[in-house]
Amino acid sequence: MKDLRIAEDIRDASTLPADIYRDPELYRQQVERVFARSWQLASWNDPTPERETAAPLTLLPRCLDEPLLVTHDASGTRHLLSNVCTHRGNMLVDTACTMRSIRCRYHGRRFGLDGRFAHMPEFEEARGFPSPTDDLPRVPSARLGPLLFAGIRPAQSFESWLGPLAERFAFVPWDRLKVDEERHYEVDAHWALYCDNYLEGFHIPFVHASLADGLDYGEYSTETFEWGSLQVGIGKEGEDLLDLPASHPDHGRNVAALYAFLFPSTMINVYGWGVSINAVQPLGPNRTRIVFLSLVSDASRRSRGVGADLHRVEMEDEAIVESVQRGVRSRLYHRGRFSPSREIGVHHFHRLLGRSMIDEER
Ligand code: FES
Ligand SMILES: [Fe+2]
Repeated sequence: MKDLRIAEDIRDASTLPADIYRDPELYRQQVERVFARSWQLASWNDPTPERETAAPLTLLPRCLDEPLLVTHDASGTRHLLSNVCTHRGNMLVDTACTMRSIRCRYHGRRFGLDGRFAHMPEFEEARGFPSPTDDLPRVPSARLGPLLFAGIRPAQSFESWLGPLAERFAFVPWDRLKVDEERHYEVDAHWALYCDNYLEGFHIPFVHASLADGLDYGEYSTETFEWGSLQVGIGKEGEDLLDLPASHPDHGRNVAALYAFLFPSTMINVYGWGVSINAVQPLGPNRTRIVFLSLVSDASRRSRGVGADLHRVEMEDEAIVESVQRGVRSRLYHRGRFSPSREIGVHHFHRLLGRSMIDEER
């Protein structure tokens, strides 16, 4: 499809064409070219904390629907593996349990908890067997505190995905955090419309009266980096602020919230009370689930500041995003232009999304 190359200079650029949000064939391409090749939140509570355990996990249910297996071996090392037998494709583990090895119940193939092929009956005469292709495929994974990220064939390393956020978020006590609250929202809109809306503070004065009271719109800033962007919300006088250490790049600014976006669909928000995550998961061309997690580091500040009433902000965002979904179905709407001062994050996202959909080599 043409028109997916978005001009580098925002002053010349137009948005992605509306077909991106409404065409079922383009949606299928996004699942394979974007979601199967990126880092995704896979789990937020370790399903196998004990040694010699295995638990099934589906990466992006109803989107990738990829059956995976989290194991902890006898030495305590965690592995993320395919949950599909390398013989004829049977599913291996249905429920979390303790086990010394993984045994397929179809024809008895056995694997170690590290995924290595161990034994197969009736294969003595097979030539060139076993080979590495008989091991369970290993899936790239990485942790941020209790959050487990995984990618089927991620286009970059986890470190380059995080990029400058590693330094920006170094003050967050990731290893002390746990998920205190989990909510799932479903929106009647394409996943990228939800992301577009997240990526600008332009709509705050129009859509979020409560946020507009706390944030200094004039000082609100957006930075982009290779795989994402960061919006820095500056608090008005008297607002609850982040305690940033002297070494932090934003030390000295009145930061009330950091809103980080990682392509294609992970949002990490830092407030005075802790961290919230929005993991955006496509369910279809115009249906999206948002897994919304709160990780509280200071409960006494939970009801203060711009991160106090996230449910209300979410409802306001969902209403506008569903309204846009109805709008982009119009035969009379094709594409728009960007505000060079206020839509830097959206422009960067459209460039990344357009490029991922064209570049089949990635
Ligand atoms: S499918 Fe697993 S042993 Fe045959
Ligand atoms: Fe919003």
